[in-house]
Amino acid sequence: MKYQVGTLDAVPSKRLFLSIIADYDLNKSICELIDNSFDVWTRNGRRNSIEINITLNKEQGIISVEDNAGGLSQNELKYIVSPGHTGSSSTDQTIGIFGVGTKRAVVALASDIQIKTRYKKEQTYQVEFDDSWLDDEEWILPLFTVGDIDFGSTRVELKKLRIIITDDLIEKLHNHLRKTYGKLLTINNVYLKLNDKIIDPEFFDNWSYPPNYEPRRYHGILTTDKKRNIDVEVIAGLSNESSPGAGEYGVYFYCNDRLVAPAMKSFDVGFTKGQAGLPHPKLSLTKVIVSMQGDASEMPWNSSKSDINVKHHVFIALHDWLVQVVKEYATLSRVWMGEWADKVFSHDKGRIIDVPIENFINVKKSFLPDPPKSRMRLAEKIAKKNERLSIRKPWTKGLYEGVVASVTLSKQPLSQANWLAYSLLGITLKSALKEFIVNEINCNLSDQDIKKLLNLENGKLPQKIKEPITLPDLLWGRIENILYRQENLLYSRTTPSISQNEFTEAKEVTSETLKKLFKIDTND
Ligand SMILES: Nc1ncnc2c1ncn2[C@@H]1O[C@H](COP(=O)(O)OP(=O)(O)OP(=O)(O)O)[C@@H](O)[C@H]1O
Ligand SMILES: [Mg+2]
Repeated sequence: MKYQVGTLDAVPSKRLFLSIIADYDLNKSICELIDNSFDVWTRNGRRNSIEINITLNKEQGIISVEDNAGGLSQNELKYIVSPGHTGSSSTDQTIGIFGVGTKRAVVALASDIQIKTRYKKEQTYQVEFDDSWLDDEEWILPLFTVGDIDFGSTRVELKKLRIIITDDLIEKLHNHLRKTYGKLLTINNVYLKLNDKIIDPEFFDNWSYPPNYEPRRYHGILTTDKKRNIDVEVIAGLSNESSPGAGEYGVYFYCNDRLVAPAMKSFDVGFTKGQAGLPHPKLSLTKVIVSMQGDASEMPWNSSKSDINVKHHVFIALHDWLVQVVKEYATLSRVWMGEWADKVFSHDKGRIIDVPIENFINVKKSFLPDPPKSRMRLAEKIAKKNERLSIRKPWTKGLYEGVVASVTLSKQPLSQANWLAYSLLGITLKSALKEFIVNEINCNLSDQDIKKLLNLENGKLPQKIKEPITLPDLLWGRIENILYRQENLLYSRTTPSISQNEFTEAKEVTSETLKKLFKIDTND
């Protein structure tokens, strides 16, 4: 049962502004104002040129942002000061949609705020407020007319700043603006200036083109739950440089030409175990640049456009496929680590492969060929396999390294590669027998004794060494064949030559012997 017993006054308190002051820094705040200038220009069909001037006056502690985007008409004036009010409709392809940007930005930066605006050739209006208005629960503001500013322009002037302007802060803002508005700054007749200096765009699309694994440009529409279509473009590939220090890798998100999230390396875009892997310099060639264009209300950004809203239905719709794309390029970056110069960076020219996607809602695979097999070097691989053994029995190290060296040598483009590799296996076999009698059977032998024990007589090893070492007779026979063959070739008048089959047999015998004597694993 419910009965109405009265009404409550739900008019918000000005206290809500206090939380904002803590959340906003200079970069975020200035961007809110720039977003608005671009929005007005977009809503007017981007017909005219646009110029936005930002001034940070260090000495006087004044910030101003001025644009010629069109200005606010008298009946729109409250949009710029009243929280929740917006001039954007939900289907405009703007940046602003939440109706809070300007209000948060100006209050976060200053306690003395003055906004002048002139719609077309009409008169110039001014609204102003300060901390005393924020402390007072009255929401009404006086409206003034003032001396004219340029047609269609708006000027936000902030004094009594809550921050201290430094050269470092100006520099950081400059870098932030170059990246954030890069796409808009490439459009003709768009000018963004900071302290009279034109800001040039900066992008992240510096690719390498390894054959078969060139960057891919996936593009198409994504139909949202509300049956609205968003244009989506995803360019994924390997970068032409590694800058893990600067963190310039991962996923970049642009929404309506505005960079929202640079270099994301979070769990949400696949940087976690079992997917692309945790962020690590070995993944630092991975770059995936997502650009979306559509209704402002369908963009998966947070309210200050400073990050992706991972709970947004559009992000969720794209998520699984996006993670797969990230994973694929991250795998390439990892597999080729150590060989980047050769496998990746040397391919500095090529074409981005175009992959049209009918609807991103249904897309399952990313169309990239299977990644090349992990190419850990043989030496690393075998060392890893025998790591614990080599700590317990350090004499085993030289033995498996003998096999690694021999296999590596056999693949070299040398006329005597097989013979040299075979000889290494012979040395490894003899060393294995020696290490066994010295370290595993504790008998007191002199160097002379050892030499005698390893000396072939008529192609056979002395019974004295075979007795304490339990190996199958067949294997002893194969060992003796190899040692005998090596000795014969070494002392024969003809130049030694070893066939591939002989080398393979020697490799098998050595591996088996090492396994039986020490449990060494030499399989790659
Ligand atoms: N420089 C400007 N020139 C003309 N109109 C402006 C300007 N700045 C703000 N406005 C108007 O004020 C409205 C409110 O701006 P505000 O930034 O507070 O919210 P928004 O842009 O609509 O949404 P969001 O909170 O997502 O930024 C804008 O929609 C626009 O109509
Ligand atoms: Mg805005």
